[in-house]
Order: sequence, then structure tokens, then C-alpha cells
Amino acid sequence: MKVRLLGTAAGGGFPQWNCACALCGLAGTPSVPARTQDCLAISPQGKDWYLVNASPDIRAQVLAAPPLTPGPGPRDTPLRGALLTDAELDHTLGLMQLRESRGLSVWAPPAVLDALRTRLPVRDIVAGYGSWQWAPPDEFPDLAVSVLAVSDKRPKYARDSTVDGSWVVAYRLHDPATGGVLVYAPCLATWPAGFDEFVGGASCVLLDGTFYSAEEMTGTGTSTSAQRAMGHVPVAGPAGSLARIRAHAGSGTRWLYTHLNNTNPLLDRRSPQFRAVTSAGVEVPEDGATLDL
Ligand code: MLT
Ligand code: MN
Ligand code: ZN
Repeated sequence: MKVRLLGTAAGGGFPQWNCACALCGLAGTPSVPARTQDCLAISPQGKDWYLVNASPDIRAQVLAAPPLTPGPGPRDTPLRGALLTDAELDHTLGLMQLRESRGLSVWAPPAVLDALRTRLPVRDIVAGYGSWQWAPPDEFPDLAVSVLAVSDKRPKYARDSTVDGSWVVAYRLHDPATGGVLVYAPCLATWPAGFDEFVGGASCVLLDGTFYSAEEMTGTGTSTSAQRAMGHVPVAGPAGSLARIRAHAGSGTRWLYTHLNNTNPLLDRRSPQFRAVTSAGVEVPEDGATLDL
């Protein structure tokens, strides 16, 4: 399985268009790479490609990814569809920008498929442009997909939805041809029950790295409780993800943080926080990074 990290920032990207913070001011300098919004491209055999999440930056992300170059026919593309972890805008708006395709397949949890029909009518909108298919994750082709329900956190635009079920999931993608396993979990409110088992034997885990600390958004006009309401476990601290990753030391699994918010000091490769994470053996990859599993 080939994996390409198309984007590694949280919603808003880095820099964020309306942010005047010191970090956003440094974005694009050698130690502080700019980042587009989180999503992946994966390919079981290196021929057909699938997105995992579809960010609003998808046009620039596809243009920057050589394997996604169109051809050989005038409107051929190796992109076949998208698998979604949730219905958040930073993970779904890209679908609308793919309307020029003749139609793609989208796999997502039932609550997300419902939201994209009733709350954010992407399905109706793209249906006017091509023939799209919508299905639950277990119908994803070529790879064995396991789903871990992570939370019932609804996007703000669907806050009052009464649809029950898993609004946010993590995926474990197993390539039977190579034995490679990728776990992708960009939205973790806490370290979920069953997650330690879910990552067992994984080659790589791409993990929610939105916030380094629990108080990080203080000073941006957003409170600690509002940060907590965003539903992302911080990297640091006794309940943070880094402590839980350390418990897996020696397992042979590679751990990588993605979905970095524009407040996160890990964005600066010179920061002590970046050194702390990388010296613990955890990676902070940039846009365009690839994995071969
Ligand atoms: C999140 O990850 O918490 C959401 O994407 C926030 C947002 O962009 O509204
Ligand atoms: Mn997000
Ligand atoms: Zn900023």
C-alpha cells in the first residue's frame, strides 16, 4: 500500500488566512513549513488511488502529487474515490471540488453519509455533475478496513442532529498483499477505549496532533473549554497521546502526528516541543510525505 500525506494541518490550514499569531507569521520559512489541511491519498497497488478525507485544499494537493497526475485519456484520473473519518468541513468540502470528475465513490460511517445528505447537501450537489456512489466503509475495495468508533462529536453545522452512531471513526487499513497496516486517527477526543488493541501490529499510526497542550488556544480569543469542546486529545501531559504512545515502545510501529492546528508549537522544527516529540521517536511529517507499507 502506498500512502501520501496530501495535507497535515487541522481545519484552517497553516497559516490560517485570518490569523496574525507569531507562528502563522513564520509559516513558509525553512524551519516552519506551511501545511495544507489534513487528508491522505492511498493506493493498494500503486495504480488506483483513494483519498482518505477530502480537504478544501484538494485541488492544490492533487496538483502537487505526481501519482495523481491525470491521463492517459484527456479526462482520465487515477483517483477513484474517498473514505471519510467524519463529516467535518475540513474533511469533506473537497468532495465538492472534485465535481469535475464523472463521479467518484465515497465510503463513510452512516451518520456521516446522512449528514452529507441532510445537513451539508454535498450528495445532492455533486449528483448534478456526475454519477457518485455512497457506501459504508466495509464496502471499500482491495484493502481490509476495520473501523473503530471514536466519538459522537457532530460538526458545528450539524450540532443539533439527532442521528445516533459514530460521527467520528478511526480506520485500520490492512493490505493483504503486503501485510502492511496503516491506522489513521486524525480526530481523537481522548485516547479511545480499544485503541491500544486497534493499533496492535500496525506498521504506521497517523495520529491526531491538533494541539500540543490543553491550554494552547488561550490568547487566541478561544477558551480552554472551547478547545476541549473541539474534541482533540493534546500531545503532552499525563492524559496526552505521547504518554500513551510511549507504552507501545519496542512494538516496531511507526507513530506520526498529523492534523496540526496553527497554534501548535510542533509546527516549528526548532521548538523544544518538536525536539521532545521527535526524540521520543514520534515523527511530525510534512505535506507530501510518503509511506510504503
Ligand atoms: C476539528 O477537527 O475539530 C474540526 O475540523 C474543526 C473545524 O474545522 O470546524
Ligand atoms: Mn479537523
Ligand atoms: Zn496562527
